[in-house]
Amino acid sequence: HDRSLIDTRKRPLRDLRISVTDRCNFRCVYCMPKTVFGRDYPFLSRNDLLSFEEIERIARVFVAQGVEKIRLTGGEPLLRRGLEKLIEQLARLPVEITLTTNGALLAKKAQTLKEAGLHRITVSLDALDDVIFKRMNDVDFAVSDVLHGIEAAAAAGLPIKINCVVKRGTNDSQILPLARHFRHSDHVLRFIEYMDVGNSNGWRMAEVLPSTEVIALIQAEFPLEAIDARYAGEVAARWRYLDGAGEIGVISSVTQAFCSSCTRARLSTEGKLYTCLFAQQGHDVRSLLRGDKNDDDLSRAIAGVWRARSDNYSEMRSEIRTEKTGEIAKIQKIEMSYIGG
Ligand code: GTP
Ligand code: 5AD
Ligand code: SF4
Ligand code: SF4
Repeated sequence: HDRSLIDTRKRPLRDLRISVTDRCNFRCVYCMPKTVFGRDYPFLSRNDLLSFEEIERIARVFVAQGVEKIRLTGGEPLLRRGLEKLIEQLARLPVEITLTTNGALLAKKAQTLKEAGLHRITVSLDALDDVIFKRMNDVDFAVSDVLHGIEAAAAAGLPIKINCVVKRGTNDSQILPLARHFRHSDHVLRFIEYMDVGNSNGWRMAEVLPSTEVIALIQAEFPLEAIDARYAGEVAARWRYLDGAGEIGVISSVTQAFCSSCTRARLSTEGKLYTCLFAQQGHDVRSLLRGDKNDDDLSRAIAGVWRARSDNYSEMRSEIRTEKTGEIAKIQKIEMSYIGG
């Protein structure tokens, strides 16, 4: 494919993350805190969302431009009605299709997702203890329901990754229990540093637990060794248990930024194209899709956006912070639930 589509930092376009809804049935404190996402939060209306036809068309254009992996995100993607239909369409493209879910509806849907052509799945799970899990999801959702979802996905034959966002002082006590639980399971457990995405989660550096500490903690109970990335630009650093119990990963977007190999484009629920999780502005693709443009026009527009791309927010974060007060400068950022993790 088109090897010439690289951005100003020589990064190719390889991944497309598509948010299919800005709604979620959880209110994770680090993502959609209740104080902001309350009863009358103005979520997008049906007309604003890209239709499945529009998503399929734009995805095809992206794949022709070099995209090799499509991840469906949200909000909670399994809340989008008929999602299996979209997956069926996308699975016809020569590309890997995966999905990030909170697992709430997974027990019910795993089998049909697999049959629709989904290749693998990532399930978020921040604790094994119900009290702590409920403190993270803030909607009284029980751990056992997510575990049932994971079992159903495994039974359906989907390879599984488990993502845990670590907030120091809230769920760091859960690192070892999670590690113990998923050893020998074949599911890859990954710990994610709590990030300053969006403007609502009240992020503070003091609540970030650096991945080096996560590894040290697990290492003390189960010896680990670092292993090579599975593919160039992999976000997670991989570690394997020396006793052969499998592997884990850590995603250190705060303490060890990985912008220099970032190949990801993000399409918001309403069809805006973002070239960074921390972008302040997107490019309106929906109006192109709904106007009189043909696929070549779309292609050119996407290429133009990617070639002009220079984002490296996570690498700059520390500079932004140290300048004045030690606080991160208040820039207007996009919410994770809208742009997709
Ligand atoms: P795999 O294909 O399984 O390797 O998936 P992935 O690790 O690329 O994607 P996933 O959605 O599992 O990413 C896990 C988490 O890492 C996300 O929810 C984010 O918290 C973080 N993350 C992923 N991509 C980026 C990125 O481009 N920038 C930053 N800052 N964080 C990211
Ligand atoms: N920091 C890190 N990861 C986050 N996610 C959402 N908000 C944050 C944040 N503030 C990611 C998590 C979650 C996925 C849906 O989005 O990985 O599992
Ligand atoms: Fe929902 Fe995922 Fe955000 Fe939690 S992290 S509120 S499950 S979109
Ligand atoms: Fe990519 Fe932006 Fe994340 Fe850096 S901060 S890795 S450029 S999405």
